[in-house]
Amino acid sequence: MNSKADSERMEKIVSLCKRRGFIFQSSEIYGGLNGAWDYGPLGVELKRNLKDYWWRAMVHERDDVVGMDGAILTHPEVLRASGHVEGFSDPMIDCRSCKAHLRFDQLIEKKGVKQCPNCGGKDLTEARQFNLMFETHVGAAADESSIAYLRPETAQSIFVQFKNILEVSRKKLPFGIAQIGKAFRNEINPRNFTFRSREFEQMELEYFCRPERGMELLEYWKEERLKFYENIGISRSKLHVLTVPDEERAFYSKGTYDIEYEFPFGRQELEGVAYRTDYDLSQHQKASGKSLEYFDEETKQKFIPHVVEPSAGVDRTVLALICEAYAEDEAPDEKGKMETRIVLRFHPRIAPIKCAVFPLLKNKEPLVAKAKEIVDLLSTHMYVFYDESGAIGRRYRRQDEIGTPFGVTVDFETLGEKDPALRDTVTLRDRDSMKQERVAIRDLPAILRERLG
Ligand code: GAP
Repeated sequence: MNSKADSERMEKIVSLCKRRGFIFQSSEIYGGLNGAWDYGPLGVELKRNLKDYWWRAMVHERDDVVGMDGAILTHPEVLRASGHVEGFSDPMIDCRSCKAHLRFDQLIEKKGVKQCPNCGGKDLTEARQFNLMFETHVGAAADESSIAYLRPETAQSIFVQFKNILEVSRKKLPFGIAQIGKAFRNEINPRNFTFRSREFEQMELEYFCRPERGMELLEYWKEERLKFYENIGISRSKLHVLTVPDEERAFYSKGTYDIEYEFPFGRQELEGVAYRTDYDLSQHQKASGKSLEYFDEETKQKFIPHVVEPSAGVDRTVLALICEAYAEDEAPDEKGKMETRIVLRFHPRIAPIKCAVFPLLKNKEPLVAKAKEIVDLLSTHMYVFYDESGAIGRRYRRQDEIGTPFGVTVDFETLGEKDPALRDTVTLRDRDSMKQERVAIRDLPAILRERLG
């Protein structure tokens, strides 16, 4: 943790996520399963909006990328060829005093002596390699021959299907294959809420190219990915690009950037953008005996394409979105007295609920009927929420706290009782400025669609 204020901010965020149904501990009523999380009604909307926007930006809005959805259960030979069976491990140490299992880089050092971060114990075992992959058995026999793995990254199924997809899509280099899906890693110490989990989702693109374009495309994708984060409301000033030093990069990579975000618990990786050369395809070609070469019609050359990979975490990005959006400001209560308001300032594009619709009073049938008509009008365009219970100010606050960018209120003017010119108009409230404007009901879909982006 950075400071007391950062740590308090993080506690408030975790508590809001549970209280309002974004994220729950998995298997909570049984004491929880460490490193696994369940997304509630609002969390699942936020996550879907993020994944849909990634897919739109990375696949639909481009003519050089196609998608796929691979299996989670993975043949052991795939992960042997990729190097995961042999080398996908973290150095682990046990503390003999408190029995904690620790990643080597989590030890603290005082006066040159390594200590356990939990109990301060100095009686530590030697470091040993701990493979992070989850192993399972396929079929009835639970022996060596039936071993399969839960994939530790989505990337490998893209490499393994490279030839099939090249044939069916008839793409020419450079082109990419995108995938969003679950990945599993038996992390030694899951922590920082959802940041390091054992089950998580990735959004990965493998962008294949001629070898001489690798370094240039690495730069291109780093910039594209930075723009993406800004387009979902993450401020550029909170993003940092770390050039991974030679000695920390995977041996096959010629260049890697980590895109980091300033979480309340410190600056941490959101996404890696790596130039993986032709390592993966070469390994799979060697191990499978099947050609994974590309034939260039123009030059009549056959070669193994190189690849640049932007690989982002869905759960980490959701967490960054919530951290970025969380704010406390001041707003007047029912009596006009200023009070603290909790607000999630999500970009409208990714906000779980786009618009809330309120009848001013729930016991006035014409107000309720009109509000329900508006819900019907809007719900084919966006996710809307109807709320009639409690004072209107309280209803606004409840929506502010979950980040709903727009609120529509049906009042007596809507019914034309005071001024016939205002019949079929409503107030449209903006979450951030709290300003209200009067708009015609028939214009609502177009106005909101434009503001949602
Ligand atoms: N195919 C490349 C790859 O998997 P990585 O840096 O190991 O690279 C990519 O993972 C992204 O996946 C990370 O930047 C992060 O966003 C996400 N990720 C990795 N491990 C994670 C974990 N234990 N919990 C949550 N997200 C994780």
